[in-house]
Amino acid sequence: MEFLPAEIEQYATDHSKPECSVLAELHRETWAKVLRPRMLSGHLQGKVLESFSHMMRPNRVLEIGTYTGYSAICMAYGLAEGGKLITIDINDEISHIAEKYIEQAGLKSKIEFIIGDAIQIIPGLKETWDLVFIDADKENYSNYYDLVFDSVRPGGFIVADNVLWSGKVIEPYELLDEETKSLFDFNNKILKDERVDNVLMPVRDGLMLIRKR
Ligand SMILES: C[S@@+](CC[C@H](N)C(=O)[O-])C[C@H]1O[C@@H](n2cnc3c(N)ncnc32)[C@H](O)[C@@H]1O
Repeated sequence: MEFLPAEIEQYATDHSKPECSVLAELHRETWAKVLRPRMLSGHLQGKVLESFSHMMRPNRVLEIGTYTGYSAICMAYGLAEGGKLITIDINDEISHIAEKYIEQAGLKSKIEFIIGDAIQIIPGLKETWDLVFIDADKENYSNYYDLVFDSVRPGGFIVADNVLWSGKVIEPYELLDEETKSLFDFNNKILKDERVDNVLMPVRDGLMLIRKR
């Protein structure tokens, strides 16, 4: 489901600076060769993530859910001098695509790509995060939030993708599937959490911006 009329979405995209050639080619290859290409953030949301990162100039970024690397590259463009982005994905079958484009973008020294289950990997990462992007399995959003929370610096951000889940989060709770229930519960949990400020932005499939107080 698109939340904006297609013409408005197109106008917004057309009036945002174009993707760089590496991201455009990554987008093309993902749509040509990989299952479920809609998972890729894409031009408009990618520019939003890139802009957040440029605004923050983060030193440490954690991404949960790399897929083919599109959003990792976008956020890494805004890293501070000497900064690092760590991205985790459980699927080793498409990791070569992410690795290829990270290299082509000249970001190999700035992006650490870990293959494995984020639930098991995150506790072993001894970092303080300026920015965390949650974009993996929806059932674990709340677990990811709890796992990273203490390691996010005060004033740092957690951003969660797909929180509107094609609009399914507004259906009656008893009719929701497990993924939608998880996102519904996650959105309510964030709203009630006094430790953070948040805004749910209806960008693409819904981006939740959470600032740790
Ligand atoms: C929506 S895609 C990520 C899209 C990417 N962030 C982008 O915007 O281009 C979700 C990814 O999460 C990964 N994933 C699912 N469960 C995971 C887990 N437990 N640990 C790590 N990655 C996981 C999937 O393999 C998939 O590649």
